[in-house]
Amino acid sequence: MMNYVTLNNGIKMPQEGFGVFQVPDAEVCKNSVLDAIASGYRLIDTAASYGNEEAVGAAIKESGVAREELFITTKLWVQDASYEAAKKAIQTSLDKLGLAYIDLYLLHQPMGDYFGAYRAMEEAYKEGKLKAIGVANFYPEVLANFCETVEIIPAVNQVELHPFFQQTKALELMAEYGVKPEAWGPFAEGRNGIFTHPVLTKIGEKYGKSAAQVALRWNVERGVTVIPKSTHKDRMEQNIDVWDFSLTENDMKEIEALDLGHSEIVNHYDPAFVKMLHSYKIHE
Ligand SMILES: NC(=O)c1ccc[n+]([C@@H]2O[C@H](COP(=O)([O-])OP(=O)(O)OC[C@H]3O[C@@H](n4cnc5c(N)ncnc54)[C@H](OP(=O)(O)O)[C@@H]3O)[C@@H](O)[C@H]2O)c1
Repeated sequence: MMNYVTLNNGIKMPQEGFGVFQVPDAEVCKNSVLDAIASGYRLIDTAASYGNEEAVGAAIKESGVAREELFITTKLWVQDASYEAAKKAIQTSLDKLGLAYIDLYLLHQPMGDYFGAYRAMEEAYKEGKLKAIGVANFYPEVLANFCETVEIIPAVNQVELHPFFQQTKALELMAEYGVKPEAWGPFAEGRNGIFTHPVLTKIGEKYGKSAAQVALRWNVERGVTVIPKSTHKDRMEQNIDVWDFSLTENDMKEIEALDLGHSEIVNHYDPAFVKMLHSYKIHE
């Protein structure tokens, strides 16, 4: 049985969802989301910058699942990180998704005038257009400053979290502020041979589970929400089948030892990466 986490405003969020990053083709995206919903996923994670909000919206409509059963997340891109641009971007996302409200709306990156953008998010939250608001890629020093400044504490911080980048200290800070952690790249986007990793595979064998399932379960047991991506239905089904087993303390310790302590996917401390994100335009 899928677990739900309660956000700091009382809203319940499924602890597992389906991510659609790098699924730009509208037909593939729509079919993937339909397959995911049929497989039992109720949380869908998209972003304005993924270019597939319309396809996600089409799948939501076609799925026949009641709106209130679904939990839709999208994100504000860097280009729209200012008060005025964010007001417009929120409406654009609502229109593209074809929804009257978004369950969770995140600042995608701590870049641009993200304080201004967040004020627009706070307003839309108060108007009921956004049921919860949060952030992504906020490392501890950024998150602490943000929480000390804003009126509404973010409900969620979506950051890279997987066995090779565990961010244990960052999770402690999120807990201190009542911000729920959500894992992007829960499979490290396939890096470090995660799907055949000997430690994860060996642990999984005890429970009849794959390395992928062990990686997800490990995050779940740390209280983290996971949003694995796949365009293959058999993998979607495998990835959501993590609610009927649990890991021992010893399993958790063995996985703890895999932490590299840094990301091998992105580097938010590298000015070139920051510039690259600023130069990525999603509209005129
Ligand atoms: N906030 C942010 O900045 C941010 C950044 C990155 C991602 N995200 C979100 O997080 C979601 C997940 O992260 P991600 O998509 O980057 O990477 P991920 O979920 O860690 O990995 C996805 C990769 O794993 C493969 N895969 C999935 N399940 C598998 C299985 N059971 N066995 C073998 N291979 C499997 C997929 O291949 P196939 O698709 O071919 O099956 C795909 O290549 C994204 O979709 C997005 O919604 C957010």
